[in-house]
Amino acid sequence: MRKEFEEIKKDSIKKIEKAKDREELEKSKVFYLGRKGKLTLLLKSLKDLAVEGKKEWGPKLNQFKKELGEIIKEKENNFSLVLKDKRRDLTMPGKKIKRGSLHPLTIVEEKILEIFKSMNFSVVLGPEVESEFYNFDALNIPEYHPAREMWDTFWLKDKDKEDRKLLMRTHTSPVQIRFMEQNKPPFQIVVPGRVFRYEATDASHETNFYQVEGLMVGKDISLANLKFVIEEFLNKFFGKKLDFRFRPSYFPFVEPGIEVDIKLPGKDKWLEVMGAGMVHPKVLKMGGISLTEGWQGFAFGMGVERLTMLKYNIPDIRLFYSGDLRFIKQF
Ligand code: FA5
Repeated sequence: MRKEFEEIKKDSIKKIEKAKDREELEKSKVFYLGRKGKLTLLLKSLKDLAVEGKKEWGPKLNQFKKELGEIIKEKENNFSLVLKDKRRDLTMPGKKIKRGSLHPLTIVEEKILEIFKSMNFSVVLGPEVESEFYNFDALNIPEYHPAREMWDTFWLKDKDKEDRKLLMRTHTSPVQIRFMEQNKPPFQIVVPGRVFRYEATDASHETNFYQVEGLMVGKDISLANLKFVIEEFLNKFFGKKLDFRFRPSYFPFVEPGIEVDIKLPGKDKWLEVMGAGMVHPKVLKMGGISLTEGWQGFAFGMGVERLTMLKYNIPDIRLFYSGDLRFIKQF
């Protein structure tokens, strides 16, 4: 009995201390304390001892059984601590946080402004709710002028403080007048912003879209400067050579007027991306700029969606406003 007991005492503690994981610990526990475990069997064999032997070994074995149970319990607790710590392991790779991304129109608008800023243009903003005066009259588009039909308008019921009719601006051009009223030439500005038109939508027309307006006024500004600025912009924007053309056109607030088209890559089709021209003398006058001092300038207004469609080969303008994350996440 003594020999067996000493052996079990020595080996069991060693084994349990060495156990590397819960599984090994459980095995040792069963090996000594299970129904047919070594210590259990030794305890059972007590009944074969004489009374004296029982008196001597009974308490010793039971005491050791208790101790062993406690050692095992402590070790089990250690394992669960290790487990908990593992969950807090600072070296484990973190969970990936899903980030949002910028809308392609935001990316492109920023890119456009960056290019113009590099050419010394300042960025100016104007209101989306505009008066009839700034959106039309001051731009040489009087009421009943057929040119008004070029811009199907969302009219608002309210009027402004000066009792002028209000509308959702149909283009960013009214900011030309607002800026000229407040600033003396020479200057060169770009105006990004949202515009609204009451028209049917299709693959290249939306009722709500973005424009970037440009205005440069100085003493010797000519059509050649306009052409240079636009060519420089388009080459920088696309970073490669796309075919574009300047086509004579008509806008009441410029004279002469042009439109810029870009050839759709791989197709025999052109997409109109901007209107432009030399600022009409009447418009300069409305902005409070003296013609006798020899000021003249050019202006342009480009469609941000159209340029984005060309840059990223997007077939339909309506995708921008679809709210479809699969589309937006590609940029
Ligand atoms: C204008 O809005 C003029 N204000 C542009 C201008 C400014 C001319 C300064 C001269 C001097 P237009 O209606 O053509 O022009 O629109 C300008 C550009 O906006 C178009 O070339 C096109 O790229 C874009 N655009 C026009 N209508 C839509 C539409 N419904 N949906 C998306 N883009 C449009």
